[in-house]
Amino acid sequence: MTAFDIVDKYIKFFEKREHKKIPNSPLVPKNDPTTLFTSSGMQPLVPYLLGEEHPEGTKLVNVQNVFRAVDIEEVGNNRHTTFFRMLGNWSLGDYFKDREIPWLFEFLTVELKLPIEKLYITVFAGDENAVIKEGKKNPSLSLDADAISYWKKELEKVGANYIVWDEKFENSQNLNTAKIFPYGVDKNWWSRSGPPDKMPAGEPGGPSTEVFYDFGADLKIHEKSKFKDQKCHPNCDCGRFVEIANSVFMQYQKQEDGTLKLLPKPNVDFGGGLERLLLATEDQPDVFKTSLFAPIIEAIKKETGKTYEGHEVQMRIIADHITAATFITNAKIKPSNTDQGYILRRLIRRSLDNLYLLKGKDIDSVIESVVQQYKKTDPEIETNYEEIKNTILEEAQNYHGTREKAKKFIAKKYGDELMGTSEISAEDAFVIYTTHGLSPTQIKSLGYTFDEQQFAERMKEHKDLSKKGAGQKFRGGLADHSQQTVMGHTATHLMHKALRDMFGTDLHQSGSNITSERVRFDFNFDRKLTDEELTELEKIVNDKIKTNLPVHFEMIPTDKAHEMGAIGLFMDTYGEKSKIYFIGGDSKNPEKSYSIEFCGGPHVEFTGEVKSFKIIKQDALGRGFRRIYAKVG
Ligand code: SER
Repeated sequence: MTAFDIVDKYIKFFEKREHKKIPNSPLVPKNDPTTLFTSSGMQPLVPYLLGEEHPEGTKLVNVQNVFRAVDIEEVGNNRHTTFFRMLGNWSLGDYFKDREIPWLFEFLTVELKLPIEKLYITVFAGDENAVIKEGKKNPSLSLDADAISYWKKELEKVGANYIVWDEKFENSQNLNTAKIFPYGVDKNWWSRSGPPDKMPAGEPGGPSTEVFYDFGADLKIHEKSKFKDQKCHPNCDCGRFVEIANSVFMQYQKQEDGTLKLLPKPNVDFGGGLERLLLATEDQPDVFKTSLFAPIIEAIKKETGKTYEGHEVQMRIIADHITAATFITNAKIKPSNTDQGYILRRLIRRSLDNLYLLKGKDIDSVIESVVQQYKKTDPEIETNYEEIKNTILEEAQNYHGTREKAKKFIAKKYGDELMGTSEISAEDAFVIYTTHGLSPTQIKSLGYTFDEQQFAERMKEHKDLSKKGAGQKFRGGLADHSQQTVMGHTATHLMHKALRDMFGTDLHQSGSNITSERVRFDFNFDRKLTDEELTELEKIVNDKIKTNLPVHFEMIPTDKAHEMGAIGLFMDTYGEKSKIYFIGGDSKNPEKSYSIEFCGGPHVEFTGEVKSFKIIKQDALGRGFRRIYAKVG
């Protein structure tokens, strides 16, 4: 049974039961600025789950392409992927647990022929401590006894075991004989934002019942797992059990006062990952060994000349990330430093890091195998193949350029010293990190080794310094707080941006020092600037001063700042948030900004206050770095 067959069976099964098939919504939602990607089948249906009438009726079915950026770091194990297809059926105030549970059971055991002894059920255990606000309780958050009784009925009909696991009576009803497992809000409650206390006002959610597939107690993965000494149970995370189906009984809406209110009509929101269902039908614990992914892994093996065994993590990351990149590119996204483009860039670069670690060179054959594998369910990726391939390869080319520059820096610095060894100093690895933006893993994928402990210490030092600096700045501002230095600070932001516009975004500030006499600015650049270039730089900065752009800061989540393309030495990060200076736009309109920088400040309020900018001289600052002195005012 292929992935295509599962989709076909599922849609037909629910169409026969009067469900209307609705389209697969775009992977990048239109008209929804609150989210970057469609991450569940229910996302486009929220207004209808809240009570609006759907034009196609009250029973719907589809297969939805989804991308979950939060799972990027999870990829590498036997079951996580960032991109997947979700089979979904919905009751919009129509049927409830009474029909959803028997249909789900029939689909899994009759249509997909999954053996009953391999299936385990979880239900909502209730939450006795569901104090939502000021002692107010949600008394309705009790054990989902209805779901249990519908499951028992189904299991009884086929003569299967239906014992409910009860921790307190472990001796008589132990883990080995139990079939139905109740869990709390962390496992058997579903909303887009997680458990009830995390849901924002207005958000719908509800208890869920899930089905897990058991790959068996003797599974090798389990032996290696950190849970190997614990008793295994469906949600134990060791890899033995994999969740294949999730029915959410979406009947609540979070209120402003923190409580949960019943929606006018209860809904069913079912989601089942196609890749996971395939894994169960093939009784294959490794999703990357299923008939869907195996040919993609083959292409990676061929390109790298390595076996899958021993290189599973890298190969899984490459296969998943290139699949996701293919679908995101298909949604007309281009790699960039903001929003969806930033995620796409991260996926492509991360897959290349892993490909290079395995000594592979080209990603072309992997992209081609992804298109081959998915074209039957998603024919448009074949139509757009050339565009998809060119976009990914162009980014690979760019990334190659950045990596070459980092290598050049090392080659220049070490000359012949590096012959026969690949060990560089942690300090140089740190310079590569700050000037080229390459992470320790990316530096390692260049073939260098360095003392990672020392690198981590250097990183901590850098962060501590920035915190200390921040403390000083918050206590009394900069050492010299005169108008002249404040003007100088704003001038460095203008100069930094102008230099990047002139010479490309591999150019980064590496330091600065501002007094009331002059501005000193250091950056990575491997030659002297010509007189014409210095004149042009002066002119750009003076033009921006004349335009009198507004300057202001906002404290925003550091991740978001990176997504917006904020530059700088990242010295002004305070915990989760960073102080970001905008020249021009703001965080709502980052594209309107001339410059977005991490910085403690202070700055002038309008660029016009800087009055004028004059370069005094330039210096070479060791290999690959330059220094410019300028005057303002
Ligand atoms: N919304 C639930 C999920 O995404 C079920 O469809 O898992």
